Amino acid sequence: MKTLFKISLILSLFILIGCTSKDMTIADFESGTFDGWTVEGDAFGTAPATGSLPGQQEVKGFEGKGLANSYNGGDDSRGSMISPEFTIERNYINFLLGGGRHADTYIELVVEGNSLYISRSVVESETLQWMTWDVKAYKGKKAQIRIVDNQRGGWGHILVDQIVMSDEEKSTFMVDHQLSFDVDHKYLLIPVEADGPESVIVMEANGVKSAKMYIRVAQTKTDYWVPIDVEKYKGQKVTLTFEHVKKTDTGFSQIGQSDSFEFDYNEKYRPSYHFTPQYGWMNDPNGMVYLDGEYHLFYQYNPYGSKWGNMHWGHAVTKDLKKWEHLPVAIAPDSLGTIFSGSAIIDKNNTAGFGKDALIAIYTSAGQTQTQSIAYSLDKGRTFTKYDHNPVLSDPSIADFRDPKVMWHDGTQRWVMSLATSQTITFYGSKNLKEWEKLSEFGEGIGDHGGVWECPDLFALTTPDGRTKWVLFVSINPGGPNGGSATQYFIGDFDGKTFKADALPYPLWLDYGRDNYAGVTWSNVPQSDGRRLFIGWMNNWDYANNVPILNFKSANTVPRELKLMNNGKHLVVANPPVKEMQELRNGSNNAIGDIKVNKSYTIDKLLADNMGAYEVEMIIKPSSVNSFSFKLTNAKGENLHFIFDLANEKLSIDRRNSGLTDFSNNFASINIAPLVKKDSYKIRLLVDKASSELFINDGELVSTNLMFPSEPYNTLVFDADGELNVEKVNVYKLK
Ligand code: FRU
Repeated sequence: MKTLFKISLILSLFILIGCTSKDMTIADFESGTFDGWTVEGDAFGTAPATGSLPGQQEVKGFEGKGLANSYNGGDDSRGSMISPEFTIERNYINFLLGGGRHADTYIELVVEGNSLYISRSVVESETLQWMTWDVKAYKGKKAQIRIVDNQRGGWGHILVDQIVMSDEEKSTFMVDHQLSFDVDHKYLLIPVEADGPESVIVMEANGVKSAKMYIRVAQTKTDYWVPIDVEKYKGQKVTLTFEHVKKTDTGFSQIGQSDSFEFDYNEKYRPSYHFTPQYGWMNDPNGMVYLDGEYHLFYQYNPYGSKWGNMHWGHAVTKDLKKWEHLPVAIAPDSLGTIFSGSAIIDKNNTAGFGKDALIAIYTSAGQTQTQSIAYSLDKGRTFTKYDHNPVLSDPSIADFRDPKVMWHDGTQRWVMSLATSQTITFYGSKNLKEWEKLSEFGEGIGDHGGVWECPDLFALTTPDGRTKWVLFVSINPGGPNGGSATQYFIGDFDGKTFKADALPYPLWLDYGRDNYAGVTWSNVPQSDGRRLFIGWMNNWDYANNVPILNFKSANTVPRELKLMNNGKHLVVANPPVKEMQELRNGSNNAIGDIKVNKSYTIDKLLADNMGAYEVEMIIKPSSVNSFSFKLTNAKGENLHFIFDLANEKLSIDRRNSGLTDFSNNFASINIAPLVKKDSYKIRLLVDKASSELFINDGELVSTNLMFPSEPYNTLVFDADGELNVEKVNVYKLK
């Protein structure tokens, strides 16, 4: 019995071992020779090293006694080693790797003559670490491994040991993982995990490498896809190199080619009449300029994900300020950096020499430092050529040195650039957009300084009594009146060199809501129109990256017209919607008429079929009350509450219970604005799925706020501490 038991035990052990398929060693460099590897050059010596070589720091992390070490003869020696051919019989190849991190110090897997993987040490180190190649798909194929050191100088060597085929992965990541494609479709589609970490990717085609792309390649699940446009490489080979790939990542194997790219354009919070990027991330509006019937809107754009990064200039045009046409990306990152905010002008007199009426973009190149660059278009903004002597303005002593807004100054017959320079705005002058001289600096000791100054704009407006005044916009983040980002302004005079602010109760804010930032105005709007037109980014850096939208992020405000008005106390920059916004009503109107609020009044249903895009218009006459409020609400009780405290001249907009708020600790808030006590408030409230823009008395007081209700608010509830007349209540469906 006893022996029988022993035999069956041994048998079952054999079976067990058979099932877990034993590791197969390709090389452990223990035999004292290179065991059939073909060794060239002198870097690897004539036999495996047994640790550090003369002059080398201590080598650690290898197994047993021997390893391949190309420090033979120091860093300058070069050479390579090629393994005997073997058959791939397991899912993975594990190996220990260390040494330099150069293009020419690498280990390569060649399968049937094709290079499959090239790996480099994650960091420069004499301690070897486990790396893994996933070779599942190549089982049964013949392969060879090459270890290469063609690098001279510091860290010009490589360390390799313990190359073993296994069904288990030893490493948690693979480095410089490469995927190659013979391009026969328009796009490479990349699966993205919305909140995953960024992979650093470089695309190479025809020997030319792209700027680094930071993409959240799916690791555990795919939330959406982003396309890399490879149409121009059709018929050629394109290689993506991923700096580090986690071995467990699911996304890499899913990357493939396609002629189409689908995404959910109708996602729940996609606005219906506000500008949004088709997909990907948007922040500041840039390069707004009018030309030949088109209002151009460029914008800070990430085409590779719905969070900030990879800044390009996206592009769209509108003929009527209502409907937008999306155009291809206009300006992409280059060796000077990514493309940050800036402006565009029409060079009517060919001052820059790029051509008469060239559309010229002036933007920040965000590289090691921030510098200003220019690019021109001779085909109405469809394609741009970067100036070959960029940058045109730099000052490495200032870290935050960005967002050039350029205008033509008639009096001095030159271009004037307003540039954000940390906590001031610096003005520069130029005759040709290429050479700039400093004119003056504004901002010390005035206005809000709670954060970095960004996105300036300088332009003239006319006062209600007909005087010309200059207005300077300065966006600031953080430091806004209700936290995070907001746009402050100054009113004063500009003589072509210096801006002098009038004495006003600064800081003054263009919009007291939390979601209107980095807005600037269109240049070159025809005199026949004569308006100063504005658009802002409808978000706040406090939470912009986390708002609960997947396929795209951020909308802009509606286009607004800037006007100087007196709010009863002082001059303000009013910013009502452009008149074209009334055309969105398309004749639809729920005319509710006049109502009397006695303590409380409810309009049950604003619209019969409320899709969340509408406008409420009314005139509130609070003759005998100290406070009143109105509240947009839905069946779930979610609400956006506008509270007018006349006694304390304070307007509060409470969005704490507006719907989804827990995506950020900073979102749920009561947003406060100073209110001037008046007999009558003309209200326009523009709602579009996830945004509300409140305009009081033709934009004299404005508050723009996002909210994410689970269903549209379709009920309006008034409350007052007495009797309130609300006149001419109209609800328009907007589209
Ligand atoms: C403002 C800003 C700018 C910068 C851009 C980068 O929101 O920080 O100052 O140019 O965003 O995307």
